[in-house]
Amino acid sequence: MAFLLSLLLGVYLAPLALSDLIINVQPEVISPVFTSQLMINCSVTNNQVPNIDVIKSVSLSRFNETIKDFYVLLSLDTQTFNLQQFVQFRHAQVSFGNLFLSLTVYNPVQSDAQTYRCNVDGDNSVQKNVPMKAKKEVRYEPNVTALIQEITRLKISEDIEKCSSKNVELSGYNNIRSKLHFVGSSEIVKELIEPLTVKCSFLASNDRPYEDSVLQSMYILHGKTNYTSLLQEFQKTLIPESCRGIIHKKERVEVTLASGLKVMCDTKTDGGGWIIFQRRINGKVDFYRGWKEYRDGFGDYNIGEFYLGNENIFSLTSTGQYDLRIDLELNNKKYFAQYENFKILSETEKYKLQIGDYSGNVGYELSYHNNMFFTTFDRDNDVHSGTNCAERCSGAWWYRSCHSSNLNGLWGSTSFYKGMNWYELTEWSNSVSFSEMKIRERK
Ligand SMILES: *[C@@H]1O[C@H](CO)[C@@H](O)[C@H](O)[C@H]1NC(C)=O
Ligand SMILES: *[C@@H]1O[C@H](CO)[C@@H](O)[C@H](O)[C@H]1NC(C)=O
Ligand SMILES: *[C@@H]1O[C@H](CO)[C@@H](O)[C@H](O)[C@H]1NC(C)=O
Ligand SMILES: *[C@@H]1O[C@H](CO)[C@@H](O)[C@H](O)[C@H]1NC(C)=O
Repeated sequence: MAFLLSLLLGVYLAPLALSDLIINVQPEVISPVFTSQLMINCSVTNNQVPNIDVIKSVSLSRFNETIKDFYVLLSLDTQTFNLQQFVQFRHAQVSFGNLFLSLTVYNPVQSDAQTYRCNVDGDNSVQKNVPMKAKKEVRYEPNVTALIQEITRLKISEDIEKCSSKNVELSGYNNIRSKLHFVGSSEIVKELIEPLTVKCSFLASNDRPYEDSVLQSMYILHGKTNYTSLLQEFQKTLIPESCRGIIHKKERVEVTLASGLKVMCDTKTDGGGWIIFQRRINGKVDFYRGWKEYRDGFGDYNIGEFYLGNENIFSLTSTGQYDLRIDLELNNKKYFAQYENFKILSETEKYKLQIGDYSGNVGYELSYHNNMFFTTFDRDNDVHSGTNCAERCSGAWWYRSCHSSNLNGLWGSTSFYKGMNWYELTEWSNSVSFSEMKIRERK
Protein backbone atom coordinates (compact mmCIF):
# COMPACT_ATOMS: atom_id res chain seq x y z
CA MET A 1 0.00 0.00 0.00
CA ALA A 2 2.74 2.41 0.94
CA PHE A 3 4.52 1.32 -2.17
CA LEU A 4 1.46 2.02 -4.32
CA LEU A 5 0.99 5.41 -2.72
CA SER A 6 4.52 6.45 -3.34
CA LEU A 7 4.17 5.24 -6.90
CA LEU A 8 1.09 7.39 -7.33
CA LEU A 9 2.52 10.44 -5.66
CA GLY A 10 5.93 9.66 -7.04
CA VAL A 11 8.35 12.46 -6.63
CA TYR A 12 6.28 14.35 -4.07
CA LEU A 13 6.54 11.70 -1.44
CA ALA A 14 10.20 11.14 -1.95
CA PRO A 15 11.48 14.13 0.10
CA LEU A 16 9.03 13.40 2.89
CA ALA A 17 10.24 9.89 3.14
CA LEU A 18 13.68 11.22 3.91
CA SER A 19 12.59 13.66 6.62
CA ASP A 20 10.00 11.94 8.58
CA LEU A 21 10.20 14.18 11.57
CA ILE A 22 8.69 17.52 10.79
CA ILE A 23 8.62 20.64 12.86
CA ASN A 24 5.93 23.04 11.88
CA VAL A 25 5.95 26.55 13.29
CA GLN A 26 3.11 28.98 12.83
CA PRO A 27 3.93 31.88 12.38
CA GLU A 28 7.68 32.02 11.91
CA VAL A 29 7.88 35.69 12.83
CA ILE A 30 6.16 36.95 15.91
CA SER A 31 5.34 40.54 16.61
CA PRO A 32 4.16 41.80 19.97
CA VAL A 33 0.52 42.77 20.24
CA PHE A 34 -0.33 41.37 16.87
CA THR A 35 0.70 37.75 17.17
CA SER A 36 -2.00 36.16 19.22
CA GLN A 37 -0.57 32.66 19.14
CA LEU A 38 2.50 30.72 18.29
CA MET A 39 2.11 27.05 17.44
CA ILE A 40 4.95 24.56 17.30
CA ASN A 41 4.07 21.11 16.11
CA CYS A 42 6.40 18.15 16.05
CA SER A 43 5.08 15.34 13.99
CA VAL A 44 6.25 12.12 12.50
CA THR A 45 4.62 11.85 9.14
CA ASN A 46 5.52 8.33 8.27
CA ASN A 47 5.24 5.40 10.57
CA GLN A 48 7.87 3.61 8.56
CA VAL A 49 10.66 5.75 9.92
CA PRO A 50 13.82 4.51 8.38
CA ASN A 51 16.31 3.16 10.85
CA ILE A 52 13.82 3.27 13.67
CA ASP A 53 11.62 0.35 14.34
CA VAL A 54 9.97 1.55 17.48
CA ILE A 55 9.42 5.21 18.21
CA LYS A 56 9.63 5.67 21.93
CA SER A 57 9.35 9.39 22.48
CA VAL A 58 8.80 12.71 20.82
CA SER A 59 10.04 15.81 22.59
CA LEU A 60 10.13 19.52 22.02
CA SER A 61 13.01 21.72 23.15
CA ARG A 62 13.83 25.36 22.95
CA PHE A 63 17.15 27.11 22.73
CA ASN A 64 18.18 29.08 25.78
CA GLU A 65 20.58 31.99 25.24
CA THR A 66 21.95 31.83 28.75
CA ILE A 67 22.99 28.23 28.75
CA LYS A 68 23.60 28.24 25.00
CA ASP A 69 21.81 24.98 24.64
CA PHE A 70 18.43 23.44 24.11
CA TYR A 71 16.34 22.46 27.03
CA VAL A 72 13.32 20.22 26.92
CA LEU A 73 9.89 21.76 27.23
CA LEU A 74 7.72 18.73 26.61
CA SER A 75 8.26 15.08 26.15
CA LEU A 76 5.77 12.48 25.02
CA ASP A 77 6.17 8.79 25.62
CA THR A 78 4.54 7.45 22.51
CA GLN A 79 3.88 4.08 23.95
CA THR A 80 2.07 5.11 27.11
CA PHE A 81 0.97 8.56 25.85
CA ASN A 82 2.40 9.93 29.00
CA LEU A 83 3.25 13.61 28.60
CA GLN A 84 5.82 15.36 30.70
CA GLN A 85 5.96 19.10 30.90
CA PHE A 86 9.24 20.57 32.12
CA VAL A 87 8.44 24.25 31.91
CA GLN A 88 5.53 26.22 33.19
CA PHE A 89 3.95 28.39 30.52
CA ARG A 90 1.89 31.44 31.18
CA HIS A 91 -0.78 30.85 28.60
CA ALA A 92 -0.28 27.80 26.55
CA GLN A 93 -1.96 24.70 25.37
CA VAL A 94 -0.41 21.33 24.70
CA SER A 95 -1.92 18.70 22.52
CA PHE A 96 -0.66 15.39 21.27
CA GLY A 97 -1.85 12.48 19.27
CA ASN A 98 -0.61 9.55 17.38
CA LEU A 99 2.96 10.68 16.75
CA PHE A 100 2.56 14.39 17.11
CA LEU A 101 3.21 16.78 19.88
CA SER A 102 2.05 20.35 19.65
CA LEU A 103 2.50 23.43 21.80
CA THR A 104 0.50 26.60 21.34
CA VAL A 105 1.68 29.69 23.19
CA TYR A 106 -0.86 32.47 23.45
CA ASN A 107 0.27 36.07 23.17
CA PRO A 108 3.90 35.16 22.67
CA VAL A 109 6.56 37.57 23.85
CA GLN A 110 10.08 38.21 22.73
CA SER A 111 11.56 35.38 24.77
CA ASP A 112 9.30 32.94 22.94
CA ALA A 113 11.13 33.80 19.75
CA GLN A 114 13.83 31.16 19.77
CA THR A 115 14.92 28.11 17.89
CA TYR A 116 12.72 25.13 18.63
CA ARG A 117 13.79 21.58 18.20
CA CYS A 118 11.88 18.34 17.90
CA ASN A 119 13.47 15.08 18.86
CA VAL A 120 12.41 11.55 18.23
CA ASP A 121 13.96 8.68 20.06
CA GLY A 122 13.53 5.14 19.03
CA ASP A 123 15.08 1.77 18.85
CA ASN A 124 15.90 -0.24 15.88
CA SER A 125 16.83 -3.85 15.59
CA VAL A 126 20.53 -3.17 15.52
CA GLN A 127 21.00 -0.15 17.77
CA LYS A 128 19.27 1.36 20.72
CA ASN A 129 18.29 5.03 20.92
CA VAL A 130 18.47 6.28 17.41
CA PRO A 131 17.83 10.00 17.53
CA MET A 132 16.27 12.26 14.93
CA LYS A 133 16.07 15.99 15.08
CA ALA A 134 14.39 18.87 13.30
CA LYS A 135 14.82 22.54 14.09
CA LYS A 136 13.04 25.74 13.27
CA GLU A 137 13.71 29.31 14.29
CA VAL A 138 11.03 31.72 15.37
CA ARG A 139 12.02 35.32 14.82
CA TYR A 140 10.87 38.40 16.64
CA GLU A 141 10.13 41.65 14.90
CA PRO A 142 8.22 44.31 16.71
CA ASN A 143 5.95 46.00 14.25
CA VAL A 144 6.76 49.53 15.24
CA THR A 145 4.13 51.07 13.04
CA ALA A 146 1.44 48.89 14.47
CA LEU A 147 2.71 49.35 17.96
CA ILE A 148 2.63 53.07 17.74
CA GLN A 149 -0.86 52.94 16.34
CA GLU A 150 -1.89 50.81 19.26
CA ILE A 151 -0.24 53.03 21.81
CA THR A 152 -1.78 56.05 20.18
CA ARG A 153 -5.19 54.41 20.29
CA LEU A 154 -4.79 53.64 23.96
CA LYS A 155 -3.39 57.04 24.57
CA ILE A 156 -6.54 58.56 23.25
CA SER A 157 -8.87 56.16 24.97
CA GLU A 158 -7.11 56.61 28.28
CA ASP A 159 -7.10 60.33 27.82
CA ILE A 160 -3.36 60.54 28.18
CA GLU A 161 -3.20 63.00 25.38
CA LYS A 162 -3.24 65.33 28.34
CA CYS A 163 0.30 64.16 28.73
CA SER A 164 1.33 65.42 25.41
CA SER A 165 2.76 68.83 25.85
CA LYS A 166 1.52 69.62 22.40
CA ASN A 167 -2.09 69.32 23.31
CA VAL A 168 -2.27 70.49 26.85
CA GLU A 169 -4.63 73.30 27.48
CA LEU A 170 -4.41 75.37 30.61
CA SER A 171 -7.79 74.21 31.79
CA GLY A 172 -6.80 70.59 31.40
CA TYR A 173 -3.65 71.23 33.31
CA ASN A 174 -5.43 72.81 36.22
CA ASN A 175 -7.73 69.85 36.54
CA ILE A 176 -4.93 67.42 36.99
CA ARG A 177 -3.89 67.22 40.56
CA SER A 178 -0.43 65.86 40.79
CA LYS A 179 0.25 62.75 38.89
CA LEU A 180 -1.11 60.95 35.95
CA HIS A 181 -0.07 57.40 35.48
CA PHE A 182 -0.89 55.40 32.46
CA VAL A 183 -0.55 51.72 31.84
CA GLY A 184 -2.05 49.95 28.90
CA SER A 185 -5.28 48.22 29.66
CA SER A 186 -5.38 45.17 27.49
CA GLU A 187 -3.33 42.20 28.62
CA ILE A 188 -1.23 42.05 25.52
CA VAL A 189 -0.51 45.71 25.36
CA LYS A 190 0.16 45.77 29.04
CA GLU A 191 2.89 43.27 28.54
CA LEU A 192 4.37 45.59 26.04
CA ILE A 193 3.68 48.95 27.46
CA GLU A 194 4.42 48.25 31.07
CA PRO A 195 8.05 47.70 30.29
CA LEU A 196 7.99 51.09 28.68
CA THR A 197 5.96 52.56 31.50
CA VAL A 198 4.33 55.42 29.78
CA LYS A 199 4.02 57.89 32.54
CA CYS A 200 2.81 61.41 32.51
CA SER A 201 3.84 63.29 35.56
CA PHE A 202 2.89 66.67 36.70
CA LEU A 203 5.54 67.07 39.30
CA ALA A 204 3.53 69.50 41.31
CA SER A 205 0.06 70.86 41.37
CA ASN A 206 -1.02 74.40 41.77
CA ASP A 207 -1.59 73.96 45.48
CA ARG A 208 2.08 73.23 45.98
CA PRO A 209 3.57 76.37 44.61
CA TYR A 210 7.14 75.77 45.71
CA GLU A 211 7.67 72.66 43.77
CA ASP A 212 8.81 72.61 40.27
CA SER A 213 5.89 71.94 38.04
CA VAL A 214 7.39 70.81 34.81
CA LEU A 215 4.94 69.15 32.57
CA GLN A 216 6.54 65.93 31.62
CA SER A 217 5.97 62.96 29.46
CA MET A 218 8.18 60.16 30.61
CA TYR A 219 8.87 56.90 28.95
CA ILE A 220 10.88 54.74 31.24
CA LEU A 221 12.55 51.73 29.87
CA HIS A 222 12.70 48.79 32.21
CA GLY A 223 14.33 45.46 31.74
CA LYS A 224 16.52 44.15 29.05
CA THR A 225 14.21 44.45 26.12
CA ASN A 226 15.65 46.62 23.45
CA TYR A 227 12.92 49.01 22.60
CA THR A 228 15.35 51.72 21.63
CA SER A 229 14.18 52.16 18.10
CA LEU A 230 10.56 51.86 19.11
CA LEU A 231 11.04 54.48 21.76
CA GLN A 232 12.71 56.80 19.37
CA GLU A 233 9.68 56.55 17.13
CA PHE A 234 7.29 56.91 19.98
CA GLN A 235 9.04 59.87 21.49
CA LYS A 236 8.77 61.70 18.24
CA THR A 237 5.05 61.80 18.71
CA LEU A 238 5.24 63.23 22.20
CA ILE A 239 8.40 65.22 22.72
CA PRO A 240 8.03 68.88 21.94
CA GLU A 241 9.48 70.21 18.75
CA SER A 242 9.25 73.76 19.95
CA CYS A 243 8.23 75.77 23.02
CA ARG A 244 4.69 75.95 21.73
CA GLY A 245 2.37 74.24 24.16
CA ILE A 246 4.90 74.06 26.97
CA ILE A 247 2.96 74.96 30.05
CA HIS A 248 4.67 75.79 33.24
CA LYS A 249 4.20 77.90 36.30
CA LYS A 250 7.63 79.38 35.84
CA GLU A 251 7.91 82.05 33.22
CA ARG A 252 11.18 80.68 31.93
CA VAL A 253 11.77 76.98 31.66
CA GLU A 254 14.41 74.87 30.02
CA VAL A 255 13.13 72.22 27.69
CA THR A 256 14.88 69.65 25.54
CA LEU A 257 13.31 69.58 22.13
CA ALA A 258 12.88 66.52 19.96
CA SER A 259 15.96 67.58 18.05
CA GLY A 260 17.98 67.27 21.25
CA LEU A 261 18.48 71.01 21.46
CA LYS A 262 18.04 72.39 24.94
CA VAL A 263 16.24 75.68 24.90
CA MET A 264 14.77 78.16 27.33
CA CYS A 265 11.09 78.77 26.77
CA ASP A 266 9.19 81.89 27.62
CA THR A 267 5.90 80.40 28.78
CA LYS A 268 4.03 83.57 29.60
CA THR A 269 4.66 86.52 27.31
CA ASP A 270 1.78 87.00 24.88
CA GLY A 271 0.51 83.50 25.59
CA GLY A 272 3.98 81.93 25.79
CA GLY A 273 5.47 79.41 23.42
CA TRP A 274 8.62 81.39 22.68
CA ILE A 275 12.10 79.95 22.23
CA ILE A 276 14.49 82.50 23.66
CA PHE A 277 17.69 82.75 21.64
CA GLN A 278 19.31 85.79 23.19
CA ARG A 279 19.04 86.78 26.82
CA ARG A 280 20.83 89.37 28.91
CA ILE A 281 19.69 90.11 32.41
CA ASN A 282 22.72 90.68 34.63
CA GLY A 283 25.88 91.24 32.63
CA LYS A 284 27.56 88.11 33.91
CA VAL A 285 28.24 86.67 30.50
CA ASP A 286 30.61 88.33 28.07
CA PHE A 287 28.92 88.91 24.72
CA TYR A 288 31.94 90.28 22.91
CA ARG A 289 32.82 87.09 21.11
CA GLY A 290 33.91 85.80 17.74
CA TRP A 291 32.21 84.10 14.82
CA LYS A 292 32.57 80.55 16.04
CA GLU A 293 31.00 81.26 19.41
CA TYR A 294 28.12 83.17 17.88
CA ARG A 295 27.68 80.31 15.46
CA ASP A 296 27.61 77.58 18.11
CA GLY A 297 26.13 79.50 21.01
CA PHE A 298 27.42 80.39 24.46
CA GLY A 299 26.33 81.35 27.92
CA ASP A 300 24.60 79.54 30.73
CA TYR A 301 20.95 78.86 31.44
CA ASN A 302 21.63 78.89 35.17
CA ILE A 303 23.25 82.28 35.04
CA GLY A 304 20.42 83.31 32.78
CA GLU A 305 22.44 84.82 29.97
CA PHE A 306 23.11 83.12 26.68
CA TYR A 307 23.08 83.18 22.93
CA LEU A 308 21.58 80.04 21.39
CA GLY A 309 23.84 80.17 18.37
CA ASN A 310 23.25 81.27 14.80
CA GLU A 311 23.40 77.72 13.53
CA ASN A 312 20.57 76.71 15.86
CA ILE A 313 18.54 79.79 15.00
CA PHE A 314 19.08 79.04 11.34
CA SER A 315 17.96 75.41 11.79
CA LEU A 316 14.88 76.38 13.72
CA THR A 317 13.78 79.14 11.38
CA SER A 318 14.57 77.26 8.18
CA THR A 319 11.41 75.21 8.66
CA GLY A 320 8.14 76.99 9.24
CA GLN A 321 7.29 80.60 9.74
CA TYR A 322 8.49 82.38 12.82
CA ASP A 323 7.69 85.58 14.61
CA LEU A 324 10.48 87.40 16.37
CA ARG A 325 9.85 89.20 19.59
CA ILE A 326 12.31 91.41 21.39
CA ASP A 327 11.58 92.30 25.00
CA LEU A 328 13.53 95.15 26.51
CA GLU A 329 13.62 97.03 29.78
CA LEU A 330 14.87 100.42 30.73
CA ASN A 331 14.33 102.10 34.09
CA ASN A 332 12.03 99.28 35.11
CA LYS A 333 9.75 99.84 32.17
CA LYS A 334 9.06 97.09 29.71
CA TYR A 335 9.02 97.46 25.95
CA PHE A 336 8.75 95.14 23.01
CA ALA A 337 9.29 94.95 19.31
CA GLN A 338 7.86 92.22 17.17
CA TYR A 339 8.56 91.18 13.60
CA GLU A 340 6.78 88.73 11.36
CA ASN A 341 8.55 86.21 9.16
CA PHE A 342 11.83 86.19 10.95
CA LYS A 343 14.59 83.93 9.78
CA ILE A 344 18.31 83.86 9.44
CA LEU A 345 20.00 82.16 6.53
CA SER A 346 22.80 79.60 6.67
CA GLU A 347 26.45 80.12 7.53
CA THR A 348 27.28 80.10 3.81
CA GLU A 349 24.98 83.09 3.56
CA LYS A 350 26.65 84.60 6.61
CA TYR A 351 23.54 84.21 8.75
CA LYS A 352 21.77 86.96 6.86
CA LEU A 353 18.84 88.48 8.74
CA GLN A 354 15.37 88.48 7.23
CA ILE A 355 12.42 90.11 8.94
CA GLY A 356 8.94 91.18 7.92
CA ASP A 357 6.43 93.63 9.33
CA TYR A 358 6.99 95.35 12.65
CA SER A 359 4.62 95.84 15.56
CA GLY A 360 5.33 96.89 19.13
CA ASN A 361 5.94 99.95 21.30
CA VAL A 362 9.64 100.59 21.11
CA GLY A 363 10.41 101.38 17.50
CA TYR A 364 11.53 99.30 14.57
CA GLU A 365 15.24 99.54 15.22
CA LEU A 366 15.95 96.15 13.72
CA SER A 367 14.43 97.07 10.37
CA TYR A 368 17.58 98.97 9.50
CA HIS A 369 19.43 95.65 9.76
CA ASN A 370 17.11 93.68 7.52
CA ASN A 371 18.98 91.69 4.85
CA MET A 372 22.33 92.32 6.52
CA PHE A 373 24.93 89.64 7.21
CA PHE A 374 26.14 88.82 10.68
CA THR A 375 29.39 90.46 11.71
CA THR A 376 31.74 89.62 14.55
CA PHE A 377 35.11 91.16 15.40
CA ASP A 378 36.78 88.36 13.48
CA ARG A 379 34.38 88.27 10.52
CA ASP A 380 33.61 91.58 8.87
CA ASN A 381 30.46 91.23 6.78
CA ASP A 382 29.02 94.71 7.24
CA VAL A 383 28.69 97.33 4.53
CA HIS A 384 30.81 99.90 6.33
CA SER A 385 33.99 100.14 4.34
CA GLY A 386 37.14 100.28 6.33
CA THR A 387 35.50 99.54 9.67
CA ASN A 388 34.56 96.34 11.37
CA CYS A 389 31.34 97.40 13.07
CA ALA A 390 31.53 94.59 15.64
CA GLU A 391 34.87 95.90 16.80
CA ARG A 392 33.74 99.49 16.65
CA CYS A 393 30.49 98.79 18.55
CA SER A 394 31.80 96.07 20.90
CA GLY A 395 29.17 93.59 19.83
CA ALA A 396 28.14 91.11 17.18
CA TRP A 397 25.13 91.89 15.05
CA TRP A 398 23.66 92.18 11.60
CA TYR A 399 25.55 95.43 11.25
CA ARG A 400 24.94 97.64 8.33
CA SER A 401 26.89 100.87 8.55
CA CYS A 402 26.82 100.33 11.59
CA HIS A 403 23.66 100.16 13.69
CA SER A 404 20.43 101.45 15.14
CA SER A 405 20.30 98.52 17.56
CA ASN A 406 23.12 96.67 19.24
CA LEU A 407 21.69 94.22 21.76
CA ASN A 408 24.85 92.13 21.88
CA GLY A 409 26.84 95.24 22.79
CA LEU A 410 28.53 95.99 26.11
CA TRP A 411 26.40 95.43 29.18
CA GLY A 412 25.56 98.66 30.97
CA SER A 413 27.78 100.72 28.72
CA THR A 414 27.16 104.42 28.14
CA SER A 415 30.07 104.73 25.72
CA PHE A 416 28.92 106.05 22.40
CA TYR A 417 27.76 103.30 20.02
CA LYS A 418 29.04 100.43 22.20
CA GLY A 419 26.25 99.67 24.64
CA MET A 420 23.11 97.59 24.38
CA ASN A 421 21.51 100.24 22.29
CA TRP A 422 18.01 100.36 20.86
CA TYR A 423 18.09 103.76 19.32
CA GLU A 424 14.55 104.92 19.98
CA LEU A 425 14.88 103.94 23.62
CA THR A 426 18.52 104.51 24.48
CA GLU A 427 19.92 106.42 21.56
CA TRP A 428 23.62 105.64 21.21
CA SER A 429 24.76 106.41 24.72
CA ASN A 430 22.70 104.26 27.01
CA SER A 431 22.03 100.58 27.49
CA VAL A 432 18.88 98.62 28.11
CA SER A 433 18.95 96.65 31.35
CA PHE A 434 17.17 93.62 30.00
CA SER A 435 17.04 92.01 26.61
CA GLU A 436 15.41 88.89 25.33
CA MET A 437 15.13 87.90 21.70
CA LYS A 438 12.75 85.05 21.07
CA ILE A 439 10.98 83.24 18.31
CA ARG A 440 7.68 81.46 18.02
CA GLU A 441 6.41 79.37 15.19
CA ARG A 442 3.21 80.55 13.59
CA LYS A 443 0.31 78.15 13.95
C1 LIG B 1 0.31 18.62 14.26
O1 LIG B 1 0.61 17.97 13.05
C2 LIG B 1 -0.09 16.74 12.82
C3 LIG B 1 0.45 16.12 11.60
O2 LIG B 1 0.41 17.03 10.52
C4 LIG B 1 -1.58 17.01 12.76
O3 LIG B 1 -2.28 15.80 12.61
C5 LIG B 1 -2.03 17.70 14.02
O4 LIG B 1 -3.35 18.08 13.96
C6 LIG B 1 -1.18 18.94 14.29
N1 LIG B 1 -1.55 19.50 15.58
C7 LIG B 1 -2.02 20.74 15.71
C8 LIG B 1 -2.36 21.19 17.10
O5 LIG B 1 -2.15 21.50 14.76
C1 LIG C 1 17.59 29.98 30.45
O1 LIG C 1 18.33 29.29 31.39
C2 LIG C 1 18.59 30.00 32.58
C3 LIG C 1 19.52 29.17 33.43
O2 LIG C 1 19.01 27.85 33.60
C4 LIG C 1 17.27 30.32 33.27
O3 LIG C 1 17.50 31.07 34.43
C5 LIG C 1 16.40 31.14 32.32
O4 LIG C 1 15.14 31.37 32.88
C6 LIG C 1 16.23 30.41 31.01
N1 LIG C 1 15.55 31.31 30.06
C7 LIG C 1 14.38 31.04 29.53
C8 LIG C 1 13.86 32.04 28.57
O5 LIG C 1 13.77 30.02 29.78
C1 LIG D 1 2.56 46.45 10.84
O1 LIG D 1 1.33 46.98 11.26
C2 LIG D 1 0.67 47.77 10.30
C3 LIG D 1 -0.56 48.38 10.95
O2 LIG D 1 -1.30 47.44 11.65
C4 LIG D 1 0.30 46.85 9.14
O3 LIG D 1 -0.37 47.60 8.15
C5 LIG D 1 1.58 46.24 8.56
O4 LIG D 1 1.27 45.33 7.55
C6 LIG D 1 2.36 45.53 9.65
N1 LIG D 1 3.64 45.11 9.15
C7 LIG D 1 4.11 43.90 9.33
C8 LIG D 1 5.49 43.62 8.74
O5 LIG D 1 3.50 43.03 9.92
C1 LIG E 1 18.95 48.46 20.27
O1 LIG E 1 18.37 48.90 19.05
C2 LIG E 1 18.98 50.04 18.51
C3 LIG E 1 18.17 50.51 17.32
O2 LIG E 1 17.79 49.45 16.50
C4 LIG E 1 20.43 49.72 18.16
O3 LIG E 1 21.06 50.84 17.60
C5 LIG E 1 21.15 49.29 19.42
O4 LIG E 1 22.47 48.91 19.10
C6 LIG E 1 20.43 48.14 20.10
N1 LIG E 1 21.04 47.92 21.41
C7 LIG E 1 21.35 46.72 21.86
C8 LIG E 1 21.93 46.68 23.23
O5 LIG E 1 21.16 45.71 21.22
